[in-house]
Amino acid sequence: MNVLLGISGGIAAYKGPDLVRRLRKRGLAVRCVLTANGAKLVAPAALAAVSDQPVYHEAFPLDGQIRHIDLARWADCCLVAPASANLLARVALGLADDLLTTLILALEPEKPLWLAPAMNTVMWRKPVVQEHVATLVRRGARLIDPVDGNLACGEQGVGAMADPERIAELVGA
Ligand SMILES: Cc1cc2nc3c(=O)[nH]c(=O)nc-3n(C[C@H](O)[C@H](O)[C@H](O)COP(=O)(O)O)c2cc1C
Repeated sequence: MNVLLGISGGIAAYKGPDLVRRLRKRGLAVRCVLTANGAKLVAPAALAAVSDQPVYHEAFPLDGQIRHIDLARWADCCLVAPASANLLARVALGLADDLLTTLILALEPEKPLWLAPAMNTVMWRKPVVQEHVATLVRRGARLIDPVDGNLACGEQGVGAMADPERIAELVGA
């Protein structure tokens, strides 16, 4: 199974290489797509090395390929981990303003879209964030709930990304 791993601008992006390794251990092929802010929080070269695949972030490549369509066709499912509040809002609104959101829009509806949100607990509890999550789930997205934990911002509460092993287990099942 081909997993397209989207990494948006959450601090949990640093867990990306670990998540890739756990997905691959289950026999899944993984290609990573980063948002511009995701690429500030995890090294694309590390993801390329552990996935043994190119890493994508450019929506307008100069090689003549229509990257969002090619990647959407390649994928059997898409997993966004971490999914930032901003990414959830963009997908809920159907925006297609970078490679990741455009290919999510181009993903055939029968292909699962997994979302593993991660953010500060105040952000996670905000009604606007919860409304976007509810909209996405109503449309068929599969939510991997954030967990209670010590957050990077120093707070304790719900908002930490689910454990990479748990995510790999769910997506690979
Ligand atoms: C160090 C750092 C950590 C961040 N962590 C998170 C986070 O865990 N979750 C979140 O929703 N936003 C987080 N943000 C804010 C997002 O990066 C910001 O909203 C950005 O616009 C998200 O862009 P993207 O969704 O296109 O990747 C963080 C920002 C910084 C500077």
